[in-house]
Amino acid sequence: MRTETAGGVRLEDYQPAPYTIDRVDLDIRLAPKATRVSARLSIRRSDNTAPGTPLVLDGDGLKLAGLLLDGSALTFQDYSASPDRLEISTPPSGPFVLDISTELDPDANTKLMGLYRSQGTYCTQCEAEGFRRITYFLDRPDVLAIYSTRIEARKAEAPVLLGNGNLVEAGEIEGTDRHFAIWHDPHPKPSYLFALVAGDLARVPGEFTTASGRRVELGIYVEHGNEGQCGWALDSLKRSMRWDEQAFGREYDLDVFNIVAVSDFNMGAMENKGLNIFNDKYILADPDTATDQDYANIEAVIAHEYFHNWTGNRITCRDWFQLCLKEGLTVFRDQEFSADERSRPVKRISDVRLLKSHQFPEDAGPLAHPVRPRFYQEINNFYTATVYEKGAEVVRMLKTLLGDRAFRAGMDLFFERHDGEATTVEAFLECFRTASGEDLEQFALWYEQAGTPTVAVKSHYDAEAKVFTLSFNQSIPPTPRQSDKKPMTIPVRFALVGKDGSDLAYEAISGAEAKGDVLKLQAPEHTVTFSGIGERPIPSLFRGFSAPVILESDLSEEDYLFLAGKDGDPFNRWQALQSVALSSLVTGTNAAVKDSTIEVDDLLIHALGAVAEDESLDPAFRALALQLPSEADIAREIGSNVDPDAVASARDHLRKAVAQENGTSFARIYDSLSIDGPYRPDAASAGMRAFRNTLLEYLAHSGIEGEAERVRAHFRDADNMTDRLAGLTQLVHARLEGADEALASYYERHGTHPLAIDKWLTVQATAGHPDTLDKVKALTAHPAFSFANPNRLRALVGAFATGNQTQFNRIDGAGFNFVADTVLALDDKNPQVAARLLSAFRSWRALEATRRILAENALRRVTEKPNLSRDVKDIAERSLQ
Ligand code: TRP
Ligand code: ZN
Repeated sequence: MRTETAGGVRLEDYQPAPYTIDRVDLDIRLAPKATRVSARLSIRRSDNTAPGTPLVLDGDGLKLAGLLLDGSALTFQDYSASPDRLEISTPPSGPFVLDISTELDPDANTKLMGLYRSQGTYCTQCEAEGFRRITYFLDRPDVLAIYSTRIEARKAEAPVLLGNGNLVEAGEIEGTDRHFAIWHDPHPKPSYLFALVAGDLARVPGEFTTASGRRVELGIYVEHGNEGQCGWALDSLKRSMRWDEQAFGREYDLDVFNIVAVSDFNMGAMENKGLNIFNDKYILADPDTATDQDYANIEAVIAHEYFHNWTGNRITCRDWFQLCLKEGLTVFRDQEFSADERSRPVKRISDVRLLKSHQFPEDAGPLAHPVRPRFYQEINNFYTATVYEKGAEVVRMLKTLLGDRAFRAGMDLFFERHDGEATTVEAFLECFRTASGEDLEQFALWYEQAGTPTVAVKSHYDAEAKVFTLSFNQSIPPTPRQSDKKPMTIPVRFALVGKDGSDLAYEAISGAEAKGDVLKLQAPEHTVTFSGIGERPIPSLFRGFSAPVILESDLSEEDYLFLAGKDGDPFNRWQALQSVALSSLVTGTNAAVKDSTIEVDDLLIHALGAVAEDESLDPAFRALALQLPSEADIAREIGSNVDPDAVASARDHLRKAVAQENGTSFARIYDSLSIDGPYRPDAASAGMRAFRNTLLEYLAHSGIEGEAERVRAHFRDADNMTDRLAGLTQLVHARLEGADEALASYYERHGTHPLAIDKWLTVQATAGHPDTLDKVKALTAHPAFSFANPNRLRALVGAFATGNQTQFNRIDGAGFNFVADTVLALDDKNPQVAARLLSAFRSWRALEATRRILAENALRRVTEKPNLSRDVKDIAERSLQ
């Protein structure tokens, strides 16, 4: 596709592939520096292709070592080959077989796409366009083939040989030190789902029997010595498999399901058919080295990749513009799984926090794009919060609008109609239209229009007429290449809350379509009238965050604090308190900018104290409710001319005031929260720790006599990583006495465990102190750090760029320059990871003028590098637009 459309790929240019590949037989002879790949492709002309149409296969940096068509060599007139392309000028008009040999150097592959080695283990990553780095192919998701893979390697180097599907045969190659395995995957699949792994790995076994009685062998493969850290991942896998049967009627469809953990991986994990490959941080866990958050992430990522077996693999994407068809839907599914396994409100609040901290800024900046983009320069740059997280919100809204039953019916129809196909967002929506009878034309705009809508609401109560009115106004901001926006379908889950906290009944409603407790906004303006309301209600709107919008409400602080205490919807109780805190922090920031005193809001401080004391609330919920909006949240609310130092001052000031005012109470509650028995990662005990560690943060920053000692003891006495890391973080971030000793003792204890070192790097990189940048630079020379390892790089430089507002945005520009230099140094080696790091600049235009100019200069400097990768060039250029 790219060769035809120089300068990018457009959705409207989609054409079905001119040739079809039915079978792929691979023979891969592994060697570290010279791997030989023999691919036998069974090809035929597609239905509407004229005979004699050239066959053009994709390649990326390939070395052709042999080529036969139907067993015969081709002459130079019959084909042309370059590293990036193989063209057969006049293929036979009937079916034919192409034998292609390529030679690869896995050791030299630093991009971690295609075939590479991680800690000596051979592994592959083919999504999105990595298969073309292994052999020439129609490397696009709508070419579905049946794969057989023969893998051969030195026995000592790679005793374990894994491929997609089921194992057919394995054995020694006599007279040599080599052996082989043949894997066959009966399910037709796109090339991006191909995988192989070969190495000296330990296997942690498991088994699962599906609802219909199929026995599935499960295996998790890790480096020797890590077997003891796979229990949680295996347990999560079995629970995911059961859940997909119960919640969506989806069973597993092969005899084996293998997962391999590797330590060099560009992203989180990959759903290759029957052979998922994971970043080891989403597999390995034990109480001493993994936090509660790690356990929750592992559960979610295991579920996500497993759920792709149906939403992604059995039904895949027609083209990469449809990425959200598998990703948004699968994120929705993994969110629902975690909600069922844990606390639904707590999960929803965490997901919305993530959406607001990652997707909202993306949608508000130069990198904004629709959930289904229509144009890309580099598809790797579209694995974004918008495609994943906003994509999941769109599926969630569909469920909210249609109701549980019609939603499930639509999903069932989707699986029935499109199993085995590569399809589109339109086909997905059509299933819901058929199942529900609802017209979804306007709803489909959620896939097309970028930018976060704002919904402004005004309320009015007429006591005499007993009528309550809500006036809604929606607007969608202009985004790159989309200046005019159409009004969207916006579901508002709501209640009118009475004085006692109950949801008030009303006699009639007019002004918008309503189904149960869901209002459907469709026009730019709606005046919604409720009759028969005997008291002034407080409206609770967008319950459960029923739409990914920014709500501008006319509620007063008292109204919000009322909802914070009384709303029947736990999400909106949390949201109400956040809204009060956010507006108070914006006011505080404005004061800090003017160098005047920051007034603290006593009502808020009191409300936070009350939440901490409220034993009717889940501790996990109390932890979330007590967490103040982040510096990035405050900056986003301010929107333009942001001074990150003023933001931090305001936030520090409020945190300290809350801590001082509630110090005695917080200390007493902290002391009362002890968790007996050995560490368990379940939601209830994790919630307890989260609450206790949130109180610890306040106490650490309180300046109250004796509290520093509490933090030191918390760190010293911790019997699990969650508490140890919380203690370390507070010691370092609050600059308490003993911080350096704690860093040293942590390193002493965990210095040989790379994933624990990542946390150690991140704690230091996210401290909002003037000397942090120097420390981060020094840490790049630490023996435990490695530029080549994406986890290390993200833990240090990535965390600094995205998790340290004051120091990345330093007023001397040194933070920007450091990150830009890192991007430039990484560009040749791993452009995908470099481009991701560069996207930390996405909110640069919202900064005040001095910093804005420095950020712009750093971005311009990146664009000037000769031979800049397409990945980094795309991010830099779009950021500057
Ligand atoms: N499909 C993977 C997921 O969401 C994402 C992924 C893993 C990926 N590795 C990648 C995307 C490399 C692009 C490049 O589960
Ligand atoms: Zn995914």
